[in-house]
Amino acid sequence: MKRASPPGQAQGSVGVGLSDPGLLRQAAWIAGAERTGRDWIEVTNPASGQVLGRIPNLGAEDAVAAVAAAREALPGWRGLTAKDRAALLRAWFDRVMAARADLARLLTAEQGKPLAEAEGEIAYAAAFIEWFAEEARRAYGDVIPGHQADKRILVLKQPVGVVAAVTPWNFPAAMVTRKVAPALAAGCTVVLKPSELTPFTALALARLGAEAGLPAGVFNIVTGAPAPIGEVLTGSPDVAKFTFTGSTAVGKQLAAACMGTVKRVSLELGGNAPFIVFDDADLEAAVDGLMASKFRNTGQTCVCANRVYVQAGVYEAFAAALAARAGALRPGDGLAGVTDQGPLISLPALEKVERHVADALAGGARVLTGAQRLPQGELFYAPTVLADVPADALINREETFGPVAGLVRFSTEPEVLALANASRSGLAAYVFTRDAGRNWRMSEGLEAGMVGVNTGLISTEVAPFGGIKESGLGREGSRYGLEEFLEAKTVCLSI
Ligand code: SIN
Repeated sequence: MKRASPPGQAQGSVGVGLSDPGLLRQAAWIAGAERTGRDWIEVTNPASGQVLGRIPNLGAEDAVAAVAAAREALPGWRGLTAKDRAALLRAWFDRVMAARADLARLLTAEQGKPLAEAEGEIAYAAAFIEWFAEEARRAYGDVIPGHQADKRILVLKQPVGVVAAVTPWNFPAAMVTRKVAPALAAGCTVVLKPSELTPFTALALARLGAEAGLPAGVFNIVTGAPAPIGEVLTGSPDVAKFTFTGSTAVGKQLAAACMGTVKRVSLELGGNAPFIVFDDADLEAAVDGLMASKFRNTGQTCVCANRVYVQAGVYEAFAAALAARAGALRPGDGLAGVTDQGPLISLPALEKVERHVADALAGGARVLTGAQRLPQGELFYAPTVLADVPADALINREETFGPVAGLVRFSTEPEVLALANASRSGLAAYVFTRDAGRNWRMSEGLEAGMVGVNTGLISTEVAPFGGIKESGLGREGSRYGLEEFLEAKTVCLSI
């Protein structure tokens, strides 16, 4: 994190090319008003290192103010009919879609992904708002036959209260709306702490929400370094629910901190997804699937293929086809011409990728393509395919979060199922096979919250997203995602 000081007046946008420059907000958003501070954090473009602007480095006091604003707004917001909340969410969706070209440019500038991918992410992010605007009116309760002749039992679904959300840098728009939209739909109010590496997309979304008519205090954003803000959000008795997307290590610490006040907790944490190609797979579809799963967002997604297991009969053919496709990707600055691969987010991220590659090579792996830094910029690493990676290499034990596919050869279905499940992570898994029975056996046997069968892209607003084991708690998206923000209250009536 880079800190800029002394503070002074916030500067205008640099080189993002927004048609509405007012979308780049260099201030937090609390109780329907912008807030700055004495200290600032610079936000840079990872493709060029250029400073895009800065955000206030707020602290505990500001986080307390944001929680107070959310608490004050809660009775009014939850008191609206679901239909009225739905109308406001729908108006927010319309604003986001109308501004999608600018939002995509902002997202690419601060995060680095190619513009086409950023446009896809804005549509994906907006889809959560649209979905939950529709779902707001379907938070049904229940009526249960009584346990005694004179008893009737009702289950009311009520908003949990103030929600604190902490979101990551890899999806600066979609991870915000996947949490904020269901919370608002359920009748909760929100305090969001976006990643300090990519705050501008979230701040633009909040501004569009305000323009759409979201009342003051309903959706607040606190910007700054994680620790002091996180301490308030996890410790405040006024926060009823904490939702986080990020690393498993940090998620465990935050969840532990939440237990002091027994908050509801949802965690979307790291993955280490196995990607399994059987001899009977459609090889072209499997290569397409791996390209999408592995190289989307330069390999910086929690659900991206991390361990690639290929059955012996198709191993060489698959490896050659994959290396040709990966080698043809065009890395570059997402705002400058047509590119399909961006930079890594930071130097430590790039160094981790290099460590994983070096470890695999030391274990006997072969480079089929890539395995080097690129001249496009300090944070660019070549799309890489390695063959003959040992099953116990670092790359198979830890999430790489970079553009490296390391191929492991296997012989039998039971062998690969055991390899795939030998991990404490359990977010996503992928299988390519044309055998219908094997589809079922693998889908049921893989220890993951989500399984892609003959596809490398599984994310959508209509399906539950989340992990098992140490990959998380709870689900986002779909009707399951709404439940995370509702309490079931039992009413027992004596008639
Ligand atoms: C993530 O990487 O955390 C989210 C990926 C997705 O929604 O597809």
